[in-house]
Amino acid sequence: MAPRVLVFYGSYRSDRMGIRLAYYVMAGLTARGGEAEVIDAKAVGLPILDRMYKEYPRGAAPVALEALAMKVRAADAFIFVTGEYNWGMQPGLKNLTDHFLEEWFWRPAAIASYSAGRLAGARANLVWHGTLSEMGMVVISSTITVGPIADTLTADGKPIGEAGRFLDQAFPRFIDDLFWWAEAAKLQRARKAPPY
Ligand SMILES: Cc1cc2nc3c(=O)[nH]c(=O)nc-3n(C[C@H](O)[C@H](O)[C@H](O)COP(=O)(O)O)c2cc1C
Repeated sequence: MAPRVLVFYGSYRSDRMGIRLAYYVMAGLTARGGEAEVIDAKAVGLPILDRMYKEYPRGAAPVALEALAMKVRAADAFIFVTGEYNWGMQPGLKNLTDHFLEEWFWRPAAIASYSAGRLAGARANLVWHGTLSEMGMVVISSTITVGPIADTLTADGKPIGEAGRFLDQAFPRFIDDLFWWAEAAKLQRARKAPPY
């Protein structure tokens, strides 16, 4: 069965650029046999964290939170498309992820970072690695770094020129690595119920 992958993206800016990478990842995942959905934090529109999902009594969580919890639980793997603000994370994406904890457990996650410059969000990429790990995901070593994003992808996520070619070359290994871990984690969850 095709691995179900959620692609998270978290910029709230009117002129946001990272959505290009989310589109690219989504198209590439589908082309390699995955079942993919972009979770756009701005569209989901969760408020700044008050209660985590698990802190609501069963059935009492806000509709958007409940719907997202179900999607996270049903997913086999996650990709976090992460931009960089002042060497750190984008707050919209961090806010969304902080609403959950156990829902993330026992699944692999991959990071695809980007920025306006040549460092391609590398510093945010590094910080996300530790955070996703703390949230109970297995963060795979393969990663994608895209920068400058405006020179690499068109507005609808199509690769441009040499930078786009490099991205196309790196992408299959990135996804195949994620799919391998998604299958391994799924088999193990089926073989032995997670301890908590
Ligand atoms: C508040 C802010 C801080 C930024 N800080 C960094 C930074 O530390 N490093 C970097 O490479 N680019 C930085 N940039 C430029 C972003 O990489 C660029 O604007 C990118 O398109 C942001 O992602 P988004 O368009 O999806 O919101 C910053 C941009 C903003 C708006």
